Amino acid sequence: MAKIISFATQKGGSGKSTLVVLTASALAYRKNLKIKILDTDPQQTVYRLYQRESPTKIDVEFFDWEHSKADTRFKELLAKDDANYDIIFCDIPGKLGGVSVFYPILFSDVVAVPLVASLFDMDSTIVFLKSLPEVMEKRKNAGLDFTILGIPNQKARTLEERSITGIKGKYDLDLMETGLSNLVRYKRNISLLEPLLEDSDTEDEFNLYIKEFIKKCEL
Ligand SMILES: Nc1ncnc2c1ncn2[C@@H]1O[C@H](COP(=O)(O)OP(=O)(O)O)[C@@H](O)[C@H]1O
Ligand SMILES: [Mg+2]
Repeated sequence: MAKIISFATQKGGSGKSTLVVLTASALAYRKNLKIKILDTDPQQTVYRLYQRESPTKIDVEFFDWEHSKADTRFKELLAKDDANYDIIFCDIPGKLGGVSVFYPILFSDVVAVPLVASLFDMDSTIVFLKSLPEVMEKRKNAGLDFTILGIPNQKARTLEERSITGIKGKYDLDLMETGLSNLVRYKRNISLLEPLLEDSDTEDEFNLYIKEFIKKCEL
């Protein structure tokens, strides 16, 4: 059965697509997991990368929420893919509310929220986190649950980092200890063809992040 992991937050530019690609590559190429990415963002960031690099070990499909009966089609797609993949990642548009945001979340086992430590980013992240209990309630009624996983991204050694530790223990958030710094290698080496590093380089921040991600998502 496929685990469904959505990368979501209303804030654009917080690293949803970056984290989806880096995480998917590491899990597919190092751990041999069968991975599909559903790019549900009309900007098609991940889908375009896939078109440039294909064939890769990772399948990518663009899902168009503008289509009529999109919610039914989405459900059918997940049901069809369920037996074929270990993980289905959803790269969700950076906006608040609407079917294209809440529907994927409703079907997710994990909602991964990139957290960028700046006042503006954190304000809109909190608005997003406050919108999640409503979806969670619906999921609970169906006897299901999800984990809200906070992933510090674009970390820098600044005072603003405190805004992340400030939300620890709030909003049902499971805050990761690791995360990704603001480094050019996460921009430059982004690829669905190979992981960023070998598995052996264990003390590297990216390796520590992947290790913790696997643990938190119970992969
Ligand atoms: N950890 C990071 N280090 C450096 N650049 C990053 C990092 N995370 C994201 N970026 C850059 O920030 C920009 C926005 O990231 P993106 O993944 O497109 O965000 P989103 O999908 O949330 O809109 C991109 O240019 C990306 O390369
Ligand atoms: Mg994106």
